[in-house]
Parts: sequence; structure tokens; C-alpha cells
Amino acid sequence: MARLDWPEFSDQAWLPSGLRRGITSYLDAMHDFVGSPRFWAPVAATLLRRTGETKVVDLCSGSGGPARRLRHELLRSHGLEVGITLTDLFPDASDVARINAAPDKGLRYFPRPIDAGHVPGELTGARMMICGFHHLPMKVADHVLADAVKTRRALMIFEVTDRDLLSILTALFITPFLVLLLTPRIRPLHASTLLWTYLIPVLPLMIAWDHLASCMRTHTKRNLERMAKAHARSDYVWEVGKIGPRWLPVRWPYLVGRAVELAS
Ligand SMILES: C[S@@+](CC[C@H](N)C(=O)[O-])C[C@H]1O[C@@H](n2cnc3c(N)ncnc32)[C@H](O)[C@@H]1O
Repeated sequence: MARLDWPEFSDQAWLPSGLRRGITSYLDAMHDFVGSPRFWAPVAATLLRRTGETKVVDLCSGSGGPARRLRHELLRSHGLEVGITLTDLFPDASDVARINAAPDKGLRYFPRPIDAGHVPGELTGARMMICGFHHLPMKVADHVLADAVKTRRALMIFEVTDRDLLSILTALFITPFLVLLLTPRIRPLHASTLLWTYLIPVLPLMIAWDHLASCMRTHTKRNLERMAKAHARSDYVWEVGKIGPRWLPVRWPYLVGRAVELAS
């Protein structure tokens, strides 16, 4: 199946903040339900141990919930204390204020818009993208890999979509109902999210569309292998694989990369 770059609501600058928050906060509840951080954590822990990194810059963070859950999982199951800076092209002001006021100093939300294709030098640490890589135009996605190699930054890319029939059918026929089921688990749950989910149910439809578009835009394992090969260097190594929970019949692609010291 060819990759189709369909537009997603969450990428539109015109999207009202209430609907944007409805989408990104649902994604956090969905990741919690699926248990995504538990299968990302071993891959992230191995990379962080090998590089000695204790700081992570999360790109395309949305609500920041999935990165926060991964941080907890890294500490709980792998004994790794990691500081994460969340960033997004459209940071939600209420998420930024809430997260930055929380006592947990290991998680902060950078208040200014950050384009994943142009990470400023002040944001140091391993770079991470959770369900964000497929949002980038092909040229920008390629630049993300090239820039990681150039700046010798570790890179972690995780997805929970794939370009296959089962994922597409899930987006069309399961996601709208999952939105109705999981919305009560969203924290904090805003009145606008309830309004746009149950009274005027546009969020279940918008999220199902974004899920479908995400499937069509996801770089498959084979695509990621090809991209990694194009950026292969003797002093920067890549690993591509697929992971997912045992109870689901699908696995999702990931890519990690890190700089290595060459023996002189
Ligand atoms: C599907 S959401 C993923 C959010 C979160 N990482 C998660 O898994 O729940 C994608 C996010 O990418 C952001 N985004 C889209 N294009 C971006 C870009 N070029 N640079 C940074 N963020 C971007 C959107 O604003 C949105 O919040």
C-alpha cells in the first residue's frame, strides 16, 4: 500500500484549541488503555543506557501525557530517572501552564512553538517522537534523521499505527466507539471535550479521521529501514523494529539511532 500524505485535523493551525485539546487528551487516555509506555520503555531504556543520556526532548508532544507515562515507566521498571522537555508546534496554553506548575520538575513543557524539523540548540538531550514522525512532510522527516546524525543526538521514533488493513479497519470501525468509551478516563477532562464528544459528537469522527490518515501516512518498518540506510554512518547506528502489546494482533514500527565512538 502506497504512503498517502492525508491531512490530519491536529496539524491544522486553524483548529480551535478546545477541539485540539480534545484530540490530544483522548490520545493520552488511549495510550494508557493500550499500555503503550510499557512496550516503548525497554527500547528507550536500552538507548538511554547506551548513550548515557538523562535528558530527552520530546517533539510533537500534544498533551504530553504519553511522554509523562513513559518517564514513569522508565523509572518504575528500569530504574532510569529521565528529565523530559515537551514541545509541540501548537503547544496548548492550558497544558503548558498545568505541567509547568506541577511539582514534578522532571517534566516541563517548552512554552514556545517548536517545529520538529528545526530543534533549537538550547534544547539538548535525546530526541523523541511519539506518534509524531508520520505528521512530518517527507523532506522534514528525512531532515530529522540527518540532523540527529549531524548533531550526534540520539533519536527515538515510536508509532502506534501502521499502513495495513487491520489498522485501517480499526480506525474506521473501532476508534469512534473507543473515543466514546475512553473519554471519561481523560484527566483533566474539560467541559468542551464532553460537549464535542457526547452532545455534538464531532470529536469521535475527527479522531477516527486522524487515526485513518495516520495509518495512511505511517512509515512502515521497511520505509524506516530504507531511511535509516540512507543515513547510515560508521559513527551513528540505527535500529528498526516492531513492537506492541501481546494481546493485540498488530505490531507498530519504531526507529532508534545513536552516535557511537569509533576506536582509533
Ligand atoms: C498525534 S499528535 C501526537 C501527540 C502525542 N505525542 C501523543 O502521542 O499523544 C501529533 C502532534 O504533532 C504536532 N505536530 C504536527 N506537526 C508538527 C511539527 N512539524 N513539529 C512539531 N509538532 C508537530 C501536532 O500539533 C500534534 O500535537
